[in-house]
Amino acid sequence: MPKVGHLPFLFLISISLFLRESSGSYAGSASSIINPAKVKQISWKPRAFVYEGFLTDLECEHLISLAKSELKRSAVADNESGKSKLSEVRTSSGMFISKGKDPIVAGIEDKISSWTFLPKENGEDIQVLRYEHGQKYDPHYDYFADKVNIARGGHRIATVLMYLTDVTQGGETVFPSAEENPRHKASETDNDLSECAKKGIAVKPRRGDALLFFSLHPTAIPDPSSLHAGCPVLEGEKWSATKWIHVDSFDKNLAAGGNCTDQNDSCGRWAALGECTKNPEYMIGSAELPGYCRRSCKVC
Ligand SMILES: *[C@@H]1O[C@H](CO)[C@@H](O)[C@H](O)[C@H]1NC(C)=O
Ligand SMILES: *[C@@H]1O[C@H](CO)[C@@H](O)[C@H](O)[C@H]1NC(C)=O
Ligand SMILES: *[C@@H]1O[C@H](CO)[C@@H](O)[C@H](O)[C@H]1NC(C)=O
Repeated sequence: MPKVGHLPFLFLISISLFLRESSGSYAGSASSIINPAKVKQISWKPRAFVYEGFLTDLECEHLISLAKSELKRSAVADNESGKSKLSEVRTSSGMFISKGKDPIVAGIEDKISSWTFLPKENGEDIQVLRYEHGQKYDPHYDYFADKVNIARGGHRIATVLMYLTDVTQGGETVFPSAEENPRHKASETDNDLSECAKKGIAVKPRRGDALLFFSLHPTAIPDPSSLHAGCPVLEGEKWSATKWIHVDSFDKNLAAGGNCTDQNDSCGRWAALGECTKNPEYMIGSAELPGYCRRSCKVC
């Protein structure tokens, strides 16, 4: 028997989806809706997932053009400061796109947060990389071993790697230490993969697809099976965009200029007396105007 009572409810859902899509000047606000049916698990050790069509063509093009203009800007700056000109090394190195730079970038960051269930503030700026023929990224971990690099935001817990172009040959992301799932073995497109990619579980770069993998175990201990590499590009050009996500906020220290200190000897006592909640303007302040007791209030 049909449950008529559910119909008005479904109708309301579709109206609210419609309203979300039509509000806001940029359609990206609607694209923060995540469709779990587009996500495939590619490995459990490490935990790795591919979202097909995570970015639209427009979003891919936008990230590439931002990176290109950033590259041009730094080339000119180099020239003016009399330093060496843009080298081949530099062209393959990363360009960072500051968080929430424009509505499209902010929309992508919203989408990443919705997919990963991790807060936006835990993310670094998106890094865009260009690989030309023969360029690669040797096997490495995304977590750090040293204390300096984890001072801000703590360990990197997860990475979202977005492919901005198709690559004719090569350029796969490979996990050489991944534990092969016997049920997934002998996958469909093995002969499509480069030799490098056959050394582990591999993801072929496809424009708009995104790879999510975790560098830490759920216990927050680094997961060595998250070792990964970018295979050499054999034909074509590869553009990718990376969002590294930390266990804690990556933005906190910024307000204090990376200086997590108390400004008054009494801060510890005040914090113990509950002043952080009673008097947050003075104690914590805002991003523009940091308060006097940020350290004792544990906001940095
Ligand atoms: C770099 O500097 C040289 C000499 O000062 C100048 O001729 C050239 O146009 C500059 N290039 C750019 C890209 O600004
Ligand atoms: C860090 O904080 C201390 C104590 O308030 C201050 O004296 C110092 O100038 C600050 N340093 C920077 C780089 O902001
Ligand atoms: C700390 O706060 C007290 C009370 O507001 C003030 O009298 C004192 O001057 C402050 N000390 C410093 C070093 O700012």
